[in-house]
Amino acid sequence: MLDSSPSFRYIELDETASTNSFLADYRPLQPAELTLVSAEYQTAGRGQTGNSWESAAGQNLLFSLLLHPVFLPPTRLFLLSEAIALSIRDALGSFLDGQKSLRGVCPDAISVKWPNDIYVGDRKVCGILIECRLQGEWVKDCIAGIGLNVNQRQFLSDAPNPTSMALESGQDFDRDEVLRVLLGHFSQILESWDEAAIRSAYRSLLYRREGYWPYSDGEGRFEARLKDVEDDGHLVLEDRAGSERRYAFKEVVFLHNASCNSKIVK
Ligand code: BTN
Repeated sequence: MLDSSPSFRYIELDETASTNSFLADYRPLQPAELTLVSAEYQTAGRGQTGNSWESAAGQNLLFSLLLHPVFLPPTRLFLLSEAIALSIRDALGSFLDGQKSLRGVCPDAISVKWPNDIYVGDRKVCGILIECRLQGEWVKDCIAGIGLNVNQRQFLSDAPNPTSMALESGQDFDRDEVLRVLLGHFSQILESWDEAAIRSAYRSLLYRREGYWPYSDGEGRFEARLKDVEDDGHLVLEDRAGSERRYAFKEVVFLHNASCNSKIVK
């Protein structure tokens, strides 16, 4: 649907510093409802909290969407992050679910690690960087940058636990096809925008959504279970003593890279 709509613009670049930065400076004479910029290579790909994003040239998907979510007040922007994470999770599911060679073979192996990393087992396959600009009390636009590791098999940066679709499945994928499927899922979610359904699907796909797991915050290590993700995106954990702990992004660390079998059972 997206590629046939006049309100959709697709810009393909060989190289740019960062597709998010490209869109931040983009001033078209005739703005489209939705603009997508992809690049084969980024010279200064950006990750969350000032990190860089590693991606070998021509092997992965690197793209950003310029959106105008006029229907969302700033306090509800986390829904957009949920919707994007869900689209990617579902697209990956359609390529990887049921693959015999999936490493680690956890049930529900493809999950969303709060707030919006996409994981296969205990490894990160995709990162999302959403940057929104406000105009007064309203959202002017949002740039959603997506780095999905598709065919890269060797990662050189010190990112703790990267993986790719190829590493998980033992085969290469057609990146255009992956992008097409992903955009299809995203446009479906946008067209049938159903906040309750997005909320509930996002929560049901969360990484470590069951059982107690180790975490650490400014006060040290503790074990907790995932209680909720609030509408504004805060994570709520419940520790062993039954106390609720509420966190904004980067205030809590999910500890260790254990396999799915090392969950601490009640
Ligand atoms: C993360 O740290 O998990 C977010 C990574 C986001 C990377 C993507 S790649 C396309 C877009 N352009 C960027 O510079 N960053 C995002």
